[in-house]
Amino acid sequence: MIYLDNAATTLQKPPQVGEAVFHALQTLGNSARGAHAGALDAARAIYGARVRLARFFGCARPDHVVFTSNVTEALNLALCGLLREGDHAVSTDLEHNSVLRPLYRLAAENGVAVDFVPADRQGRVDYDDFERLIRPDTRLVVCTHASNLTGDLVDLARVSAIAHARGALLVADAAQTAGTRAVDMEALGIDVLCFTGHKGLMGPQGTGGLCIREGVEIAPRKVGGTGVQTYSRTQPEQYPTRLEAGTLNGHGIAGLSAALDYLNEVGLDAIHEKELALTRRFYEGVRGVDGVTVYGDFSGDRAAIVSLNLRERDSGEVADTLSEEYGIATRAGAHCAPRLHEALGTKERGAVRFSFSWFNTEAEIDAAAAAVRELAR
Ligand code: ALA
Repeated sequence: MIYLDNAATTLQKPPQVGEAVFHALQTLGNSARGAHAGALDAARAIYGARVRLARFFGCARPDHVVFTSNVTEALNLALCGLLREGDHAVSTDLEHNSVLRPLYRLAAENGVAVDFVPADRQGRVDYDDFERLIRPDTRLVVCTHASNLTGDLVDLARVSAIAHARGALLVADAAQTAGTRAVDMEALGIDVLCFTGHKGLMGPQGTGGLCIREGVEIAPRKVGGTGVQTYSRTQPEQYPTRLEAGTLNGHGIAGLSAALDYLNEVGLDAIHEKELALTRRFYEGVRGVDGVTVYGDFSGDRAAIVSLNLRERDSGEVADTLSEEYGIATRAGAHCAPRLHEALGTKERGAVRFSFSWFNTEAEIDAAAAAVRELAR
């Protein structure tokens, strides 16, 4: 199989990730729930991962790195823990349902007002619209770093400058960029960075989290056992415990830690350069082909994603043919990005998304582009 569905999850992981999970399964007790060797090993493994992630994302405090099971949970925590009745939030048409659905629910049930920066027919956003939509009561802007449908990037430094000048926070969804390029909270002005472990970070599924700038107070939604302050009827105040009720996924987190070591060893610049080159190679192989429509802006830097359609064919049918006849794994349909599909005019047939990783080869890219050209004929 040629695996080109890395925006959904990276399937090829560095071998040390699996080894670390296996080792953790055999050795870790429950972090913060005992003082025996197993419990201490778990605490060390988890704290080590916080330190690595804080360094990786430019988060000043490792104890402000909070673990969740994925980016959806991280975004739910951030949005539901920051927005109150009477607040206003600004987001964009590029977002995934992991941002949209919490916002829609907060609007429907909690008296939060939400406005969306529109995307045009090419999927582009206009930064003046952030300026236009932010109001005195805007508590936060929540924005993806890259569209999971087109791979187009959002200039988060520009968005944070606009948000901060108007007293709003920036919550960033780094699901499609973490591990594939530098995402530095300090440099980009991100107040809460939400990430998932199983995509570009090359870790196990069931890992993810948020990095919180010091001074940003997120109220807990999930409360329960923490191993500390047992007789208090309320959740401990301090991060990360405030947002981490229940046993953590220590085994997965150990795998994520090993993945971060691998990424640091290879270097994000090398990864970014290779993924961008593979993306451009595929794009050059399919663009301008009669019957192929490619979505997104390929004029510069981008995430390693190319989405397209073949004539009027349904994207699901095309993806099935690619899988069954060519052994190429892609993702079709709506990609949990309803507003952007509406903007692109692809609500009915969706799009076929090819997404690349560090482990893909030029030969795989060429085979996929040739398959698209053949199907277009
Ligand atoms: N959100 C993931 C994707 O874009 C699963 O495919």
